[in-house]
Amino acid sequence: MSLAGRKIVLAVTGSIAAYKTPQLVRLLVKAGAEVKVITTRAATGFVTPLALSTVSKHPVFSDVSDGENWNNHVELGLWADAMVVAPCSANTLAKLANGLCDNLVCAVYLSARCPVFIAPAMDDDMWKHAATRRNVQSLAATGNFIIPVAHGELASGLVGDGRMAEPEQIVEYLDDFLNEKKPLAGLKALVTAGPTYERIDPVRFIGNFSTGKMGFAIAEMLARKGADVTLIAGPTHEKVTNSQITVVNIESAAELYRECTIRFAHTDIAVLAAAVADYRPQEQAREKIKKTNGAIALQLVETEDTLLALGKIKQPAQTLVGFALETTNEEENAHKKLVAKNADMIVLNSLRDTGAGFGHNTNKVTLITKNSEPLHHPLQSKTEVAELIVNAIIDLRHA
Ligand code: CTP
Repeated sequence: MSLAGRKIVLAVTGSIAAYKTPQLVRLLVKAGAEVKVITTRAATGFVTPLALSTVSKHPVFSDVSDGENWNNHVELGLWADAMVVAPCSANTLAKLANGLCDNLVCAVYLSARCPVFIAPAMDDDMWKHAATRRNVQSLAATGNFIIPVAHGELASGLVGDGRMAEPEQIVEYLDDFLNEKKPLAGLKALVTAGPTYERIDPVRFIGNFSTGKMGFAIAEMLARKGADVTLIAGPTHEKVTNSQITVVNIESAAELYRECTIRFAHTDIAVLAAAVADYRPQEQAREKIKKTNGAIALQLVETEDTLLALGKIKQPAQTLVGFALETTNEEENAHKKLVAKNADMIVLNSLRDTGAGFGHNTNKVTLITKNSEPLHHPLQSKTEVAELIVNAIIDLRHA
């Protein structure tokens, strides 16, 4: 890892995660970067300018002027090869998304011509609020890079999303970007995510508890490593933060099948993480089914198996990855799926593992490939799991 000669403006804002920024500065400096730190006023309640100036070996500014001297925001913006806003509070996120300019951090942001990396940090509910979602989307859509938040204990005592990425992860993200570590550049990836809904009548469906988090994290990671990603997403609340990902929304297994099969010939890597319904009602009632006094039966028919279909037409240069969610004989079943569906890798998660599977922000996976022993991984955040899956795909393609 090297950031030798890189000029980085680090903007620290008012979030408890600011206490980690002296460590972030140290890591950046250790990687060879020159770091100038600016802060909002609120940030100085969480970390002292003295600590930050000591580790960065540069004065730290919090105001556009100190009354006598003008802290030239335009110059700082132009000086930087990269601007990092870490931690980025909900307030600063909103200001940046809307182009407000009432402090030095906003002024430098508006003056910066370099790439801007934003590491949000806030409480779970604030992170999930519609206003924050909108601000993140808008910042991503206008070319900023959002460093994914982590899951875990928050300052409120709650456990959830919204923790700032660890300093090591932020440095790694910058290293990947600035050194153009894009091993998948020029490749097209197709990812499926989320559940499918199979309609019974106009108001009911057969579905499952998949949230789409794992597939979305994989799409983000493939894009970060340079792939041109299309994400076929079932009904989910997840949103992409990388504006380079094309999202195609679908509802049913049949739609997922159609969208994947028409694209597969032009795809280099396909990762099928969606939890697709295996059965759908044979008939879809046009009117709402009324309650009768006795039991009713629903006739189900099999849906199209997309992974199986893609496995049949797969060419040697294409990499096909499937998922298996099992409850018993996990490895044996996953291995059978690998062979039966002609996949290059199966990502196995067991519902017996706590913290793994649907709805969690963490996952515990075993990677099953044809010629090697199963690779067991510990419980990790879905972003970390996405990275190990994508790295395994890169290894498979080089094998
Ligand atoms: N899959 C698919 N289309 C389906 C069913 C599954 O593309 N109709 C894909 C999933 O996206 C996943 C893999 O196949 O990548 C395995 O899904 P899973 O439901 O575990 O396997 P099934 O083959 O349906 O077997 P079973 O449900 O009997 O375990």
